[in-house]
Order: sequence, then structure tokens, then C-alpha cells
Amino acid sequence: MSTHSITTKPFDGQKPGTSGLRKKVTVFQQPHYLENFVQAIFNSLDNFQGKTLVVGGDGRYYNDTAIQTILKMAVANGFGKILVGRNGVLSTPAASAVIRKYQAFGGIILSASHNPAGKDGDFGIKYNISNGGPAPEKVTEAIYTHTQTIKQYQIADFADINLSQINTIQQDDVVIQIIDSVTDYAELMAQLFDFDAIRTLLTSGTFSMKFDAMAAVTGPYAKQILENTLGAPQGTVMRGECLADFDGGHPDPNLTYAHDLVEIMFGKSAPEFGAASDGDGDRNMILGKRFFVTPSDSLAVLAANAHLVRGYQQGLAGIARSMPTSGAADYVAKALGIPYFETPTGWKFFGNLLDANKVTLCGEESFGTGSNHVREKDGLWAVLFWLNILAVRQQSVESILVEHWAKYGRNFYSRYDYEGVDAQAAEALIHNLRQQFSSLPKQQLGSYQVDFCDDFSYTDPIDNSVSTHQGVRIVFTDGSRIVFRLSGTGTEGATLRVYLESYEPDVTKHHMDAQIALAELIALAEQIAKIKTYTGRDKPSVIT
Ligand code: G1P
Ligand code: ZN
Repeated sequence: MSTHSITTKPFDGQKPGTSGLRKKVTVFQQPHYLENFVQAIFNSLDNFQGKTLVVGGDGRYYNDTAIQTILKMAVANGFGKILVGRNGVLSTPAASAVIRKYQAFGGIILSASHNPAGKDGDFGIKYNISNGGPAPEKVTEAIYTHTQTIKQYQIADFADINLSQINTIQQDDVVIQIIDSVTDYAELMAQLFDFDAIRTLLTSGTFSMKFDAMAAVTGPYAKQILENTLGAPQGTVMRGECLADFDGGHPDPNLTYAHDLVEIMFGKSAPEFGAASDGDGDRNMILGKRFFVTPSDSLAVLAANAHLVRGYQQGLAGIARSMPTSGAADYVAKALGIPYFETPTGWKFFGNLLDANKVTLCGEESFGTGSNHVREKDGLWAVLFWLNILAVRQQSVESILVEHWAKYGRNFYSRYDYEGVDAQAAEALIHNLRQQFSSLPKQQLGSYQVDFCDDFSYTDPIDNSVSTHQGVRIVFTDGSRIVFRLSGTGTEGATLRVYLESYEPDVTKHHMDAQIALAELIALAEQIAKIKTYTGRDKPSVIT
């Protein structure tokens, strides 16, 4: 085999964020940019010679070019086998499933998740370890360190591989296997959920659903499972073809960006159930007939109903949620008598808890829900979990939520995003909040009294690693909270996220609109953080 050692120089800013390295496509297109990062990944790993690497991405623009480069570099660096999704495509949860099923050493996932795609869109790359989950911080930090000192990278010299057919290719000493990930993924789902019960529901004639794949990676998975296997009528999956520019959309399954689905679900002849998934298939939004389920509530409902679902009937070991996620799932955990954990934002913090069997279900307010079946959040899994519950309970989504709140209380919740604000102004806003840590406690602000405020820090209970500065919390004496943090996944300026939560045990108030229930907290967030003064914005770009 002929391999080349190419001389290179470090690029600034190749620091992985909440979920890998995300930049504009044009940044990745610079000569050596991708190669440097890939070599830095390999340089931070030990003893992978002869082992298996999984490679795949969400199919966005530049995916196919990047895959060919990664294949050549993985061969040159000494992997023994490479499993690659057909056409270079694997959804993020499917990649996690494949790493686990084939006991791979690790995987490289190409995705910028819910960020727009296309020539001027975003691209991303991350490394997942052998448990199938995102590399923990010690690995991402090692990768970053390598990017700062890199002098050369290794690349093999062979023609681009045709990835359009399921095939096994011997390239020098390396086996490159092109796999159809839908099959492996569908098999896993069939083990966890009662497909017969879901099929009965979907073909009953009294139940209908819509799934919006947002022209992104979940389309083929959803069509195969929902339509071909479970009998939902053709057309149940909308925007089911995965396009390189995601049809010019912003594939983030929320009330703003999944507007076509929202229109259907809030329209006159709305189906009983609606769902959407994001660019790389790990996020989900759940809707009932004219009813939105907040992701924090969705996690709580899945936990409270897990005993009805085959894969989880034996009980949950525990539940984990990210800090800004509402505490709804905590109430369920308390009722079940199982432990619950509060981690920093980002799925990588759930991996250790899942591996140690401390938790079975995990969730984030950012439309992420998952379980120990993989080590990523999993959009379609959440949809199937909901369908299984609906098939068993034979109730509407709304009535399931109303009963849930009556039993556990309702955590009113909303997130305000201020996207693309000036990065320095955003840092200054956070700095100003930290300056108030000593003066705020005990202050009475309207009907709320500040209990404490801090910068959330987390000590991993398994490996004792400490992560600091994970979001500013202002917690009131009644448990209500406002959390401020800056996004770690954006590629332009900064995104300020403001998370608002209040707990309402009184059932007569549960029907209230969240924005109304949270109105005073929303005003307090502005008063304390001076968002308008710092960012110049008088309203958020997205409310979820
Ligand atoms: C966002 C979400 C976070 C999620 C991540 C990857 O990160 O807030 O919960 O894990 O995307 O999907 P952020 O941009 O806030 O850093
Ligand atoms: Zn995603």
C-alpha cells in the first residue's frame, strides 16, 4: 500500500464543543483542515491497530468528500476494518448502535446535527468511543491538544471507493465493509418495542400519525420502520428523502422550524400523533392533536410508563437529565424509588452513568431522549416508545399528559434562544451575572425570593472528573429557576440560551399556557441579565 505523510500546520480553533467540532463547510474545505482534525483524533487514541472503525454521517453537503478522506486516513493509520454506511450515511443513533453491535474500537460521525446544511451551511465531525457514545471530555481535550501541535498526517493513496452498494472491499490489508444501517437499527427497535401492538394501532383506522423527517437522515429509517414494517400508510413520513442541503431547511424539530408539521398537527383535521427528528436523527419532537409535549415532560412520561414497554419492563436503574432540563423526571424517579442525576448539557455526560448501569433513561430539554440501548440520544426510538405507550394505553397524548401532571405536578418550562449575538457581548452578559452571585441571594424579586445562584459544576460519580462553568443558575426559594448558558454548538457569533422553569402542584392551574405561567420569571430574566442592553435584542429568535 502506498501511504503518504503530509506536512501540515495547526489551525486555530479546532476545539470540540458540546458535540464535536462544528464549523462552516467552507472552513472544512480549506486544505488540510479536516485531515488535521482526523489525525488529531487518531493521535489521541492508543492500540487501535487492526481494530474496527465505524464511519458515517448525516448525508449533508460535504459528507461524501469527507468520508473518502477519512477512509484513506483510517487505512493509512492502521485500522484493520472499517464499517461505513451506504452512501456514507448513518444516523447518529444508528452509528452508535453499529459501534456497539460490531464491538468496534470507535467511530467517526460526520454531522452538524440540526444546523442548516449546503455549500454555505455547517459541517461537523465527532469521535465516539467503543461504548458507542461521544468521546468524554478527557478525549476531546486530548484531540484539541493534538490539533495545536500537529505537523503531519498519514493518508493512503487509492481511488475513491464506491459506497453506493452493500459490499465488502479489501483495500490493501484493510477490509472496508459498506453496511445498510437501517437493518441493524430496525432489529434493535423490534427487540425493545412491541411492533405487533404498534402495527395494530397504526392500522386500526382510528389512529393516524405524521412523521416529519425534515429532509434529513431519519427519512429512510422512518419509512422502513413506520411505513414498510409497521403498516402506517405511505405518506405518513413527510419530507422523507434525505437531501444534501436538507431542502434548504433548518432541521431542528421544534415548534419554529418544524412549522409544516406543526400546521398539520394544530390544524382542523389533525392526526392523533405527530413527531419530527433532526438532521442526524438523534432529536425528537412529540406532538398530540393540537398539543405540544415539552421534551422535559416527554422524558418524564417515558419513565412513568416504561413498565408498559417490553424493553424496559424489568424496571429502570435510574434517570439522568441535563441540568437545564426541567425536574419533571425527578418526580417520577422519586415515586419509583430510583436514583436520578443532573449532568451538564451534552450527551457525553450520560455515557459513564449508562455504562455503570446507574441509569436507563436520559434526556435533555433540547429535544433529546434516549436509553441504554445506544449511547446517543435517539429520535426515532423516542417516537416508537411513545407509539408503544399509546398502543397500550389507548388514550390521547393530551390526556396522558394531563393525568401525568395531576399525579406528579407540572413543571412549566420554556427556553429562549438569542441566536447569532455578538460573542463578546454574550460573554459580558454572563460575566455580569457572575458578579451578582453574592448580592442576589435572599433578594425578593416580585413574588420570587432568590435562594441561591451559582455556576453549575459537575463531578462525574463514576470517574470523578470535574466539569465547571456549565451554566449560571438562579434558583428561587420555591424551586423555580432561571438558567443562562452560551451554546457550544453554534458556528456564528454566540447563542444565549435562557431556560425558565417553575413547578406547579395545583391541578387547577395545569391547563395554563407555559408562557403565561412563566411570565413573571421571563420578566425577571431580563431584569437580572439585562439581555436587551447587552445583546440589543428585545426578543428571542426561538422559543421552545
Ligand atoms: C445543544 C443542546 C444540547 C445538546 C447539543 C447537541 O447544545 O442545548 O442539549 O446536547 O445541542 O445536540 P448547545 O448548543 O446548547 O451547547
Ligand atoms: Zn442531532
